[in-house]
Amino acid sequence: MKIHASNHVNDLIASRRALLGGLAGLPLLNLAACATPSSAGAAPATQSFANVPPTNADTVTLPPGYRWQKLIAWGDALFDGMAPFDPDALTRAEQERRFGQNNDMLALFPERYAFPWPTDQANLILCANNEYVDPALTFPSLASARDLSAEQLEALYAAVGVSVVQVTQRRGAWSARTEPQSASALNRRITPFSPVRFSGPAAQHRWIAAASAKFNEAEPGPADTVRCGTLANCAGGVTPWGTYLSSEENFGDFFVLTNVSTEPLVAARTDSAWLYDAGRFGFPLYSRSGAPIAPRQFDMSQNPYGPSLYGWVVEIDPYDPSWTPRKRTALGRKKGECATTAIAKDGRVAVYMGDDQIDHFVFKFVSDGVFNPNDRLANRDLLDHGKLYAARLNEDGTGEWIELTVEACNAAVQEAPYHAEFADYGDVVTRAREAATLLGATQMDRPEDVEAPIDREWRGLGSVLVVCTNNRNDSFQHPGNPRRGSAQVEHEQQANHAGHILRFDEVDGDHAGTRFTWNVFALAGDPEPDPAFTLPGAIAADVSTTIGGQPTFTGARFTCPDNICFDSAHNVWIATDGSPAVFPDCNDAVLVTSTTGAGPRDVKRFLVGPVGAEICGPTLSPDETAFLCAIQHPGDGDVAGASISDLRWRMGQRPPSTFPDGGESWPRSAVVVVTREDGGKVGG
Ligand code: FEO
Ligand code: CA
Ligand code: CA
Repeated sequence: MKIHASNHVNDLIASRRALLGGLAGLPLLNLAACATPSSAGAAPATQSFANVPPTNADTVTLPPGYRWQKLIAWGDALFDGMAPFDPDALTRAEQERRFGQNNDMLALFPERYAFPWPTDQANLILCANNEYVDPALTFPSLASARDLSAEQLEALYAAVGVSVVQVTQRRGAWSARTEPQSASALNRRITPFSPVRFSGPAAQHRWIAAASAKFNEAEPGPADTVRCGTLANCAGGVTPWGTYLSSEENFGDFFVLTNVSTEPLVAARTDSAWLYDAGRFGFPLYSRSGAPIAPRQFDMSQNPYGPSLYGWVVEIDPYDPSWTPRKRTALGRKKGECATTAIAKDGRVAVYMGDDQIDHFVFKFVSDGVFNPNDRLANRDLLDHGKLYAARLNEDGTGEWIELTVEACNAAVQEAPYHAEFADYGDVVTRAREAATLLGATQMDRPEDVEAPIDREWRGLGSVLVVCTNNRNDSFQHPGNPRRGSAQVEHEQQANHAGHILRFDEVDGDHAGTRFTWNVFALAGDPEPDPAFTLPGAIAADVSTTIGGQPTFTGARFTCPDNICFDSAHNVWIATDGSPAVFPDCNDAVLVTSTTGAGPRDVKRFLVGPVGAEICGPTLSPDETAFLCAIQHPGDGDVAGASISDLRWRMGQRPPSTFPDGGESWPRSAVVVVTREDGGKVGG
């Protein structure tokens, strides 16, 4: 198969290591363009809190002078008059009225919208993504995964999607509002059974039409809607007009195959574009998988095009529950991690997105229309019309946003006979990964959050951080390794277990443009590595943080960066996912570093999460007196590395965490709020 060569970013980094030298220490921000003048060129600012030492404590560990509180957790009632939560009694109907499981992305909206967003409101709306489910972390009395009933499985489906809940902060005390119900009319769940609408170029796509019919046959809904809701909601973003963007990531996990020889499936297997799609996303095609008790719309035997309804960015209006969520197909279909926005100089809106799978891509959407700050509803259709790009990084430190067009894709298909032609632009956005591959976009190490610092008017400041969690692929046939080719690394060590953060600088600071330069912001690992370091299991791995002999940061070691946010003092807050697989003496954590000033930036550990949890959804309250994050899947594994499945089903043990309720309680994913005891701004 001959296609345009996709360069792997790790090869590029490796070949540039000697050239990059200390460039990683340059300020991220062009502060001349910022509202807040600061000292570009001076040493990076430091944060006032004390670095938190590594810990495996089963709680949220913070610097002295900080405290945390649980805001809301899986199973908490969103409506007045509900019974106390009992996970063993969970049903779909119950879960549709309770906070979802495995919270990921978080966003806070002022209860009364204005632009620029007000920072002084005590009442806020919290939107949270609910990503995935695991029977072993859900039902305390379940004896084995095989004993799961159809009712329990349906409850699991209802546990993902999005949770919306009104919250109140009063002098550092935060609470979720569930009663009286009249005061919290905005509380709601959006699950895989909720009605949604498809909009944009793929709204009429043949796969989506076929799959929608099957979903609506299973559960009819209002006219012009599809009862497929949303699922696998990982990270996302917010728009300046006050809507929530939720990205659907590992949606394939929700589909099963119960019969390999049904008529619909056999017919779909003659569709070569669908075959490529199924292979690329890893859907079961030829052998049975999963439980026959899954809701029938999620059975690929009957609904082979079902997965085409997912992998999109879903726009939700937290202020208007009557407005049906929109799947914004113009933003492309992928294992979407984030969808963060920045307004370009000419008023158009850029949306940055990561496709979180080993060796996948960074995307950018640029709207045709411009943001209207005076009428939020005038922005309703902005995300339906625009251009979709994928990033190509060149060896010389330049980069291009490659526009995904029908013409370019079909020209590439002429050289790649195993790829099917693209019928129209809707086909391009539905098959966005294939399009990016054909056009030579750069394969990345699990790009997760991709986010630009913005000013009070939401204007992007020209730079973008691209957070790559890791890449355990170490084969030479399909290289995936930023340390590859480095003289300091042995052959066996070439997987990128630690991850890294890149910076893109849009040329002329234009977020609507098509050219950028790129560099390494931080190569994750240990600034003072032990020469004898190995991963658990004596696996050799490179965790150095230097490039060309120069440190990319100093201070606290960290790996597996995942989600980030920025504060108004130009610090970046970095949440990790999977770091204990590299450094087992510390649970996943939140780290903070400055993006300003030259020279190696100092990284400090601000928060360490409980046992078995990843940290997601870092966000600040509008007045920055609180830091919020999502503690996802506490108890998913123990400190020694045993998985919850092994612990429960093989070893007959309880989960190794009791977070957040302590005592003998069952662990629950939860949103926590961190504040300073003196009420000041966090981090500063
Ligand atoms: Fe859901 Fe890519 O983490
Ligand atoms: Ca993530
Ligand atoms: Ca993750």
